[in-house]
Amino acid sequence: MCGIVGYIGDREAYPVLINGLKRLEYRGYDSAGISVYNGKSVIYKKKGKVSDLEKFVSGKKINGKLGIGHTRWATHGEPNDVNAHPHVSFHKKFILIHNGIIENYARLRERLENRGIKFVSETDTEVLVNLIEYIYEKGNVSAEIAVRLALSKVVGAYGLVIICNDEPDKLIAARKGSPLVIGVGNEEYFIASDATPIVEYTKSVIYLNDNDVAIIKKDELVLKTVSNNTQTPRIQQLDLDIGDIDKSGYEHFMLKEIFEQPRSILDTFRGRVSNKPVDLRLGGLYDVMPKILKANRIIIIGCGTSWHAGLVGEYLFEDLARVSVEVEYASEFRYRNPIINKDDIVIAISQSGETADTLAAIKMAREAGAIVLGICNVVGSSIPRETDGGVYTHAGPEIGVASTKAFTAQVTVLAMMAIIVGKEKGFISKEQHIDLINELIKIPGKIEKILSQDSKFKEIASLYKHANNFLYLGRGYFFPVALEGALKLKEISYIHAEGYPAAEMKHGPIALIDEKMPVVVIAAKDSSYEKIVSNIQEVKARNGIVIAVVTEGDKVIRELADHVLEIPEANIVFSALLAVIPLQLLSYHIAVMRGCNVDQPRNLAKSVTVE
Ligand code: G6P
Repeated sequence: MCGIVGYIGDREAYPVLINGLKRLEYRGYDSAGISVYNGKSVIYKKKGKVSDLEKFVSGKKINGKLGIGHTRWATHGEPNDVNAHPHVSFHKKFILIHNGIIENYARLRERLENRGIKFVSETDTEVLVNLIEYIYEKGNVSAEIAVRLALSKVVGAYGLVIICNDEPDKLIAARKGSPLVIGVGNEEYFIASDATPIVEYTKSVIYLNDNDVAIIKKDELVLKTVSNNTQTPRIQQLDLDIGDIDKSGYEHFMLKEIFEQPRSILDTFRGRVSNKPVDLRLGGLYDVMPKILKANRIIIIGCGTSWHAGLVGEYLFEDLARVSVEVEYASEFRYRNPIINKDDIVIAISQSGETADTLAAIKMAREAGAIVLGICNVVGSSIPRETDGGVYTHAGPEIGVASTKAFTAQVTVLAMMAIIVGKEKGFISKEQHIDLINELIKIPGKIEKILSQDSKFKEIASLYKHANNFLYLGRGYFFPVALEGALKLKEISYIHAEGYPAAEMKHGPIALIDEKMPVVVIAAKDSSYEKIVSNIQEVKARNGIVIAVVTEGDKVIRELADHVLEIPEANIVFSALLAVIPLQLLSYHIAVMRGCNVDQPRNLAKSVTVE
């Protein structure tokens, strides 16, 4: 959460910063601000989106070749102009942008106030910038030393960039828990929370590690730890193109990402699956495979949509590999007293690779001796670095706050993992293995077919766009799909929606059903088809409106339901990948018709780096 951008070099900083903030806005959009140095630092900040900041500064001359910018998701202090970043220290020597939380800020603030320092905002960030200035002035030390000493006193998480007005030839950046990437140009450096603002200038990047402090001049970068150990920066090449991070003609990122799914799934299994000769490999599992095969239990952890993918994983591993699985919200798992055995395998799922609760749960599992694997989308993010092995999803950058293509890529990886483990353990025969691989390869084409019916989904959306509540029902693999469908609708259209296992409907939600309640039933053909037909009848008997996702050609449910959305027939283990597509599009169209900001829904952020 929160997007950070910084620039030092020979370009005008303002355009680099403002474009960077637009790319990072998906990380938070409560307020935005910039500071540019040109003889002295100027600061402009505004509640609202980056476009509000742009309007605010329009007509002002903002020159300078060094600057920082921030787009905020509020933690401490309501979103307003004062709490917006950058924050400036009491004697105006330091300007700071920060992503993360300073947990001991209250105690530090009290101490600084006792020494006469006045605060204007309610933020933890203002405490940090004042602590740096206090140490700088009191200790008569350089900006770098003041920053390192201050950070050694801080408890919490940060990704930050600092300007010191007394030392205007440099930016100082530091990371602990919140990601920072530095783009290396020709006598210029770019700093950002992720690579999206950097890729149009350079593909050479340095990912900062926790406790790194970078002292960045336009022609020199020195990397140290907070405790002053010099580090050797490792320059890596970005595998990202500018086309991956624009809307490519789509009205919204979310729509683009929904339509990208045939390709993102293909990219996820490309080079890992082949049908001639039949083969399925995941390089990131080689080293840990003996331990996976010995494991008595898999614990899957994640948050939000990634947790839903984990639930699909539970069915996959149980069906294909006959291993017992528990799926846990990372935020609950980390604060329980869970029983973690040394021979447990923990799989952490995360699009961003930065979710604070997931990272903390990983740490806890590793401390207990479990092997932890990651399924992540963002290359170079924290989770892949904190795990013993894992698999990237290769879905490409996901910018829309509501996750779509990351979910299907995660499920694809889980399916591949379960097939490999099932085959190794002897639960999948040679013939089944061939069938599964052939079926997986066909999934992108089947999704294309579903996407081609988009006008139908739009038409149904127009009928129910004013509903106040939706219920989503599914059984087996379709239960997590029901949860995901409901989450998509809530997130972007602000309609209350609940996902339920269809059979549980009778234990409560059935009381809600009346002629105004649309009930989305995922009723594609599987072993519980007959049961779900009965559930549809139960809804219809109470005058509910049934929108059913069915297997192509299903005549029985067509007779019963008010609307049917068809998906191609597929092996049940891959069916979640198909069934979720109509639900994504239904939510998307409803949200657009209700005038909601689909890519940046209120109060949400793409990457939740605070607990
Ligand atoms: C936020 C996002 C969701 C995402 C969840 C977990 O809530 O808005 O789309 O599913 O975080 O994020 P992760 O990056 O760990 O998958």
